[in-house]
This record gives sequence, structure tokens and C-alpha cells, in this order.
Amino acid sequence: MSIKKLAVLTSGGDAPGMNAAIRAIVLSAESHGIKVIGFKHGYNGLLKNEWIKLNRAVVYNLIQRGGTILHSARCEKFKHDEHVQSAVKNLEALDVDGLIVIGGDGSFKGVQALQKYWDKSVIGVPGTIDNDIVGTDYTIGYHTAIQTAVESLDKVRDTAEAFERIFVVDVMGRHAGFIALNSALAAGADHVLLPETFTTAAEELVKILDKLEKRRKNNASSSHIIVITENLWPGGVNILVDSLQGESGVDVRLLTLGHVQRGGSPVWQDRILATKLGTYAVELALEGKKAVMAGIQHRYPAAVSLDDASIQRKALNHYSLSMQDKITLLA
Ligand code: ADP
Ligand code: F6P
Repeated sequence: MSIKKLAVLTSGGDAPGMNAAIRAIVLSAESHGIKVIGFKHGYNGLLKNEWIKLNRAVVYNLIQRGGTILHSARCEKFKHDEHVQSAVKNLEALDVDGLIVIGGDGSFKGVQALQKYWDKSVIGVPGTIDNDIVGTDYTIGYHTAIQTAVESLDKVRDTAEAFERIFVVDVMGRHAGFIALNSALAAGADHVLLPETFTTAAEELVKILDKLEKRRKNNASSSHIIVITENLWPGGVNILVDSLQGESGVDVRLLTLGHVQRGGSPVWQDRILATKLGTYAVELALEGKKAVMAGIQHRYPAAVSLDDASIQRKALNHYSLSMQDKITLLA
């Protein structure tokens, strides 16, 4: 099918590198003589017909900028078929021949919903700091989020050492432990709590206290950094902080990293990933592919059916998991 006009939108949690992906889509589309428009505020823009023209002038000097020039949002209405159908009418009225959605697994459900009512290409590009999408080794924004978390962990270690304190550092990831595990590894944190391995609060507390005791006996470092995935501790992370303080007798402090992990200039890995996936998404649209994700597998772009990408839960790297456990006992 010949494509004259493509549309793009960013949806769900924003991620550093989304702008780099928009840039790649625009430059690559223009190289094929295709016009591009960008819908604003996620799926809301599709429903409200809120869009802007995108061209090489608009995406000039954009590769290094965090956030998304199209703005991102969540759009509850899009979960209802009648709104999806009205979005299709808007796309048709604008003579759009294909749509590229940059977002996470929630946004990809929107891709599937749209594809049900529209016979043109709808392509997903994985953009989320959580890295929780099956079928792609990495998602856009993940490397930058880790870099931000690692820089914060390094800084917190300095003050933790000075005061011989325990720090609990709460990092993002929604229901996935990728940011927690890999920032903990890269910063040499002493313990990490992950949704994938969490058992019960009582058991996890015993594990932490055992580790603290072993490290104390070994005369290991005087500070202790515990990384935890957000929303994991039953009743809230403050309960963990209070329990640790009570049981260990050591001063415990909490650092919640929060949305800083979503901001900042993307690191080079995210810029290149976004450029590859944005370029590949245009190729997939040109091939007329339907409801597929432009993923990355072993450094090369791969087309992944969104049915496959959305059913399973992406597993953590087993080697990283066991390494984290072994190495922290020795540190
Ligand atoms: P992310 O894409 O980062 O995982 P969300 O899970 O919040 O973010 O989803 C982003 C948006 O995707 C939602 O606000 C909604 O507009 C759309 N979406 C999510 N689930 C569905 C669904 N089942 N059907 C249609 N659209 C959906
Ligand atoms: O999906 C990205 C993410 O940053 C998650 O890590 C986090 O749980 C969520 O979005 C936060 O969403 P909000 O911006 O609505 O607080």
C-alpha cells in the first residue's frame, strides 16, 4: 500500500528518548516522501482532533531533549470501543495512512483496539522506563532511568557512609524490577527487593536483617543501601523503614526517587535505540504491518506481534539475579 501521510503519538508514562523516536520517524518518513502529523496528549489528541504538522524543522535539535514535544497523557475513554471508533473516523477524515504509537504495554492495548476497527497499519514503539515489554530487549528510556538511579545511589552512599546509616531507596518500575535490579547492581547496593522474587514482608525482613548481621560480623562497610521497587512493601515502604529501624537499632532513612527517573536528556543507548526503532516503525508501516511492535532483539530491529508482546510477563535476567545475591554477601 502506498503511504502518503503517517501520524505519531506518545502515550502513557513519558520516557527519555521519546523525542528522539519522534525525530527518527519524521526524518525517515520524509526520506520516503511521506508527510507526518503528531497527535497531542496521547490518545486524547486522536479523540479531540488535536494535532500538529511535523517536519525536519520541527524535529531539529531534538534528539537530546527529554520529555516529548507531543506531550503524553492517559486517556480512559480510549478503553471504550465507541471512542476508538470515533478516533478511526478522525484518522480517515485526515487521510492518515498509518499510525505509530510510542508508549508502554497499556498504550499497546490501545494499538490493538484501534487495529480492530481500522485496516491501516498501527505500529507500536516501546517507550517506557520500566522495560517491562516482552519481545524487545530494551525499551526507550530505560537506560536513562537507570543512569539517573545510579547517580542518586552513588550520592546517597556518600552520606550513608558518613553517618553509618541504612538507606532504603525506592525506585520506579511499576510492577517490574528491571530498574531496581540493574541500578542496584551498577551502584553496588547491598540488597534489592523486587516484585519478581518478593515473598512476604516477614520473610524479606528476616533476609535483610541476616545480611546486615553477616556484614557487621565481616566488618564490611558501615552503611547499607537497600533498593526497593515502588509499591512493593505491603502497607507502604515506610513500614519497612520503621521495622528496620526498630530491629537493627541503626538510623534508617528513606529516599524516594520518583519522577526524576523519567526526566533528563536521554543517554546514548536510548538515543540510538529510539532512532533505530523509529526508523524501523516507518518501514513496518510501509510494509503494511498491522498491530506489531518495532522491538530490538540482539541489537537488531524485530517485528513483534502485539498479541505476543502483551500476553506474557517479561522475566528478569536470571544470571543478574543470582549474581546480585552472591556478590552482596561478599561485599
Ligand atoms: P503505558 O503505556 O505507559 O503502559 P498506561 O497503562 O497508563 O501506560 O496506558 C496508557 C493509555 O493506553 C491509557 O490511558 C489508555 O489511553 C490506553 N489504554 C490502556 N489500556 C487500554 C485498553 N484496554 N484499550 C484501549 N486503550 C487502552
Ligand atoms: O510506566 C512508567 C512509570 O513511571 C512507572 O514506573 C510508574 O509506576 C508510573 O509510570 C507513574 O505514573 P504517574 O506519572 O502517573 O505517577
